[in-house]
Amino acid sequence: MWQAEARVDLDAIRENVSRLRAGTSAELMAVVKADGYGHGMIPSARAALDAGADWLGVCTLDEALALRAAGIEAPVLAWLLAPGLPLHTGVAAGVDLGVASLPQLDEMVESARRAERPARLHLKIDTGLARGGATVADWPALLDAAAKAQADGLVEVVGVWSHFVYADMPGHPTTDRQLAVFHEGLAMVERAGLRPRYRHLANSAATLTRPDTHFDLVRPGLAVYGLSPVVGETYGLRPAMTARARVTLTKRVPAGSGVSYGHTYTTERETNLAVVPLGYADGVPRHASNAGPVQLGGRRRIISGRVCMDQFVLDCGDDPVAAGDVATLFGSGADGEPTADDWAEAVGTINYEIVTRFGSLRVPRVYDGELT
Ligand SMILES: Cc1ncc(COP(=O)(O)O)c(C=O)c1O
Repeated sequence: MWQAEARVDLDAIRENVSRLRAGTSAELMAVVKADGYGHGMIPSARAALDAGADWLGVCTLDEALALRAAGIEAPVLAWLLAPGLPLHTGVAAGVDLGVASLPQLDEMVESARRAERPARLHLKIDTGLARGGATVADWPALLDAAAKAQADGLVEVVGVWSHFVYADMPGHPTTDRQLAVFHEGLAMVERAGLRPRYRHLANSAATLTRPDTHFDLVRPGLAVYGLSPVVGETYGLRPAMTARARVTLTKRVPAGSGVSYGHTYTTERETNLAVVPLGYADGVPRHASNAGPVQLGGRRRIISGRVCMDQFVLDCGDDPVAAGDVATLFGSGADGEPTADDWAEAVGTINYEIVTRFGSLRVPRVYDGELT
């Protein structure tokens, strides 16, 4: 018997990847960082590859090495790398590395020497996000240094890439401006004598809404898990995760009972309370206090009072709820349960954060669909 679980439908991941694949002639990198946005990195990666993903994208070297340790041989790009990491282990494992500065390039050259094989690099240009990537001013120097390292046989420039600011707001002018800067950056790549096989820019939103940004490779993350980056649209995607728990205790309390820490909720009449064993240590945002929607006993209810570390309470009125009943926080919505989008709206965040939070160790992940 179980207490709480994050159920992940791997067939939904497969369907979503097939759908994304059908919408582009580019190759597809399924982004599986952050433990597959909370869905479990390895099973999600395998499901995505089953459905035709060509690449996997992660942030950290450790994430990339974990994919290799699981026996996954598909191309992997890791792009968030602090100085001093053992990059040679990534190079030796055939992990592609994102690079945005001369010091990073130097480290990659060093790691190539140590691994005794060329480092496979994707040069990143900052087209406007002002986060990762070389500025346009620093781009030519990075290109020249990379071209020289490639001529010396120490690196292979496999890709050139960037990341969008506003693709989740279709029609936002920043997207066109970034695309123009990317094209300028590509012209400079050519002038530097580099001919990378992959130019890539599109996240989920751009994969779904801007075919002119697909180039040679698209990098969807959120959409792989069936969630839409654009509020109010679903694009036919199917959410893969359901978060639910079994009620541990019910009790009848009188009108005027304060509920949970700080008594921020008071019962209006005599009522049935149900205790649900999920709290902020499991990924339920504390901001969901008196706000988060939960389906229990065939009805949607709102969390009553504060979300605690391990549990929260639902006021169920006269409904006959019992210990052991299943409370669903979010799922695909197919059975009337709230979705991660509903949760995002209720607590003032984005659906990305809702599912990623449930990647905690205490909530076991249970997989539906074939585990490959
Ligand atoms: C560089 C990069 N590419 C692609 C993605 C995937 O983005 P999304 O989940 O919006 O598809 C991310 C995620 O944040 C990212 O950081």
